[in-house]
Amino acid sequence: MKIISVVGARPNFMKMAPIDKEIRKHNSEFPAEGFKHIICHTGQHYDMNMSDVFFYDLELPKPEYYLNVGSGSHAEQTAKIMIEFEKVLFNEKPDIIIVYGDVNSTIACSLVAAKLGIKIVHVEAGLRSFDREMPEEINRVLTDHLADYLFVTEKAGIKNLDSEGIPQDKMFFVGNVMIDSLIYYLPRTVKSNIMYNLELQPSSYLLVTLHRPSNVDNPENITKILSLLNKLAEKRKIIFPVHPRARNRIKNNLSDFNKNLFITDPIGYIDFLTLMKNAELVLTDSGGIQEETTYLGVQCLTIRNNTERPVTVEIGTNQLAGTDSEKILQAAYGIINNGEIKKGSIPDLWDGKTSERIVHMISNFQ
Ligand code: UD1
Repeated sequence: MKIISVVGARPNFMKMAPIDKEIRKHNSEFPAEGFKHIICHTGQHYDMNMSDVFFYDLELPKPEYYLNVGSGSHAEQTAKIMIEFEKVLFNEKPDIIIVYGDVNSTIACSLVAAKLGIKIVHVEAGLRSFDREMPEEINRVLTDHLADYLFVTEKAGIKNLDSEGIPQDKMFFVGNVMIDSLIYYLPRTVKSNIMYNLELQPSSYLLVTLHRPSNVDNPENITKILSLLNKLAEKRKIIFPVHPRARNRIKNNLSDFNKNLFITDPIGYIDFLTLMKNAELVLTDSGGIQEETTYLGVQCLTIRNNTERPVTVEIGTNQLAGTDSEKILQAAYGIINNGEIKKGSIPDLWDGKTSERIVHMISNFQ
């Protein structure tokens, strides 16, 4: 069976890595069934520290295809990916493509494959924020309706797909491949120098990531969030690896920062896991980090009004803090000043074996 995995943006790489490893394992155990796994990188993310460092840290092979689409408006980026990916499909004629998550590369390639009658596997299906202002929500809904096999990370996903009329026999609750990566690579964090380099002690600093357009593209919102971080920096060191989307806006505010607020370039996978594992509190608007902190039992405040990953709030250590600076500040003070810790547990099937389940199921699809 010939399979093409499509990746494009940072959060795709750690979701594909365990699938690639599992396919290699499957091929060595069942050579007669042999999968051919081809990696296609669209080039949606292209900076060294948004892409290459992840291929290195995750020990991923060089992609067979690099589409080099780069940045652009949503329509430009999606359209460029579609044009280039169609050529790949004509050339390779795969049996299946695997798409991951909810980025523009995910929907663009699903659309191309669906029109060519090629089966689509969606890894991380069923998540819904019910907020159509998020480009990712549109990508999620459309990808799920095009996909033939939908692999779901948390039970709410099955309910969401069911209520959209997707047939039960297409959906499989298998757990979370990103947690497979986390479990596999966590032991490597002992070799990371990042704590030493940034002069950090465990549980004594905050880690921040922000990249949602709603938070960083609006000058008023990002200014409010930065002044909130400045206040928190009076209490704790803050490490803030800045996504390229937020870089310019933050540079404009640079002069006023408290010296405890440490702004860095984006950080590689192993170093970031190290920072997350040791943080007292993480403030983020990322989807994946809500899940990773829940697995690690680290306190997380999500700077959004909704989440497509409700299990992290229901049973994990994540709290939806909203976008009002004063409320976020009070929630953060609650944790760092008053020890108001949210106890959490690990969601079902987030056990490091999701990619094994997925590859086993794919092998039965033929
Ligand atoms: C994308 C995903 C988002 C995901 C995020 C993770 C979509 C719609 N959004 O958002 O779901 O959480 O990736 O990072 O697919 N840029 C660079 N270098 C890069 C990549 C981007 O400088 O390597 C800059 C460009 O100016 C670009 C901007 O960042 O215009 C935004 O990049 P883009 O891929 O459009 O969206 P993200 O915000 O990264």
